[in-house]
Amino acid sequence: MKGIVFTEFLDMVEEKFGLEVVDHIIEAANLKSGGVYTSVGTYDFLEMQSLLINLSERTNISLDDLIYNYGLYFFKVLTDHHPAIFSLYKDPLEMLASIESHIHVQVRKLYPGAELPTFKIVKKEDKFLEILYFSERAMYMFAKALMEKTFEHYHESATIELEKITDDGTQVRFLISTKNDCYTTNRHIKKSA
Ligand code: HEM
Repeated sequence: MKGIVFTEFLDMVEEKFGLEVVDHIIEAANLKSGGVYTSVGTYDFLEMQSLLINLSERTNISLDDLIYNYGLYFFKVLTDHHPAIFSLYKDPLEMLASIESHIHVQVRKLYPGAELPTFKIVKKEDKFLEILYFSERAMYMFAKALMEKTFEHYHESATIELEKITDDGTQVRFLISTKNDCYTTNRHIKKSA
């Protein structure tokens, strides 16, 4: 896992829970790196897992909720560091359908050693996308958060349902339905009012 994922994670923990909690989880996690990360380095994912487990124990917040919230936080890192990638897409559904074929392909070049999930498109329609997530890291709640933020970024909204294919969350089905219709309806109501 890339160092930027660790450095930003620890920044979020400091922002939300304070420096004392950062120190506590680094110590309790008993890390090979000692908790010293550089953004361009590559580290064992087990260190992230251990940090998350200790944070969950310390805060009584579930792992799913912590990873989801980290995804919401990390989205800003992506838009700040990679505005060019976002400006290539005008539509959130198009963007999400291109993670595997374009975005993460670029990411592999920019971040050597990155460990990325695999996405497979099952069905793509104008306002609907069914996509499968595969990753040993089971960061499906991180994916859900990034998907929601992608819609927010383009000022659109969607319903995103997820369904675990395997109990451990290493394979997950996402059903994404855009709510463009609401916008059209509201506009129609406004016009006729
Ligand atoms: C400009 C857009 C994006 C960039 C630059 C980017 C980059 C990255 C980077 C650097 C990582 C960490 C890799 C590692 O630690 O080794 C990552 C992981 C990940 N990305 Fe992206 N990403 C982008 C968009 C997205 C979007 C829109 C999604 C939506 C689903 C997504 C889903 C994920 C997930 C789920 C992971 C966690 C790794 C895993 O599940 O195995 N990414 N991405």
